[in-house]
Amino acid sequence: MKVKQINAGDTHEIRHKMLREGFPIEDCIFKGDDDDQTFHLGAFEDGKLVSVASFYFDKNDTFDEPNQYRLRGMATLPDHQHKGLSRELLKMAFPIIKQNFCSLLWCNARSEAVGFYQKVGFEKVGEEFDIPTVGPHFLMFKNVTT
Ligand SMILES: CC(C)(COP(=O)(O)OP(=O)(O)OC[C@H]1O[C@@H](n2cnc3c(N)ncnc32)[C@H](O)[C@@H]1OP(=O)(O)O)[C@@H](O)C(=O)NCCC(=O)NCCS
Repeated sequence: MKVKQINAGDTHEIRHKMLREGFPIEDCIFKGDDDDQTFHLGAFEDGKLVSVASFYFDKNDTFDEPNQYRLRGMATLPDHQHKGLSRELLKMAFPIIKQNFCSLLWCNARSEAVGFYQKVGFEKVGEEFDIPTVGPHFLMFKNVTT
């Protein structure tokens, strides 16, 4: 397994299959994908991209920290889940986030994925809420210390 930085366009196939199935591929282009401070990470098995995550310099006013990163588009292909790939992507992301003078990472977590986020150190904030066409979510955050 190899983890490296990828381009926004590289994420689209996995985003589409895992997060936006049945919707137009254009829905897999997220706001800020090509911003300077945005970065995208991918995990490769036998040269094939199988897990992706994207990180945006984006403040959520729920949190006081002036500089924050947002995690979006976290997904691993079904045959490669539960092998620690998403955890590895996050491990690579934390020092990059720190280098960018941010110590808080937040996300809108699908309710079915909350257990995963808790395992990798995120905490829930507030009540469950609905994102139209996507479903129930919780706001979650993690203090990035390393
Ligand atoms: C959620 C998802 C990204 C996790 O990816 P993954 O590569 O399988 O995650 P990892 O293997 O790194 O998991 C880390 C730990 O969380 C556990 N875990 C993974 N998914 C879980 C879930 N849905 N609920 C509870 N625990 C979960 C793993 O078993 C592992 O536990 P361990 O440390 O005890 O071994 C993946 O299941 C996925 O793509 N789901 C569909 C898309 C999705 O919902 N993405 C999140 C959008 S907010």
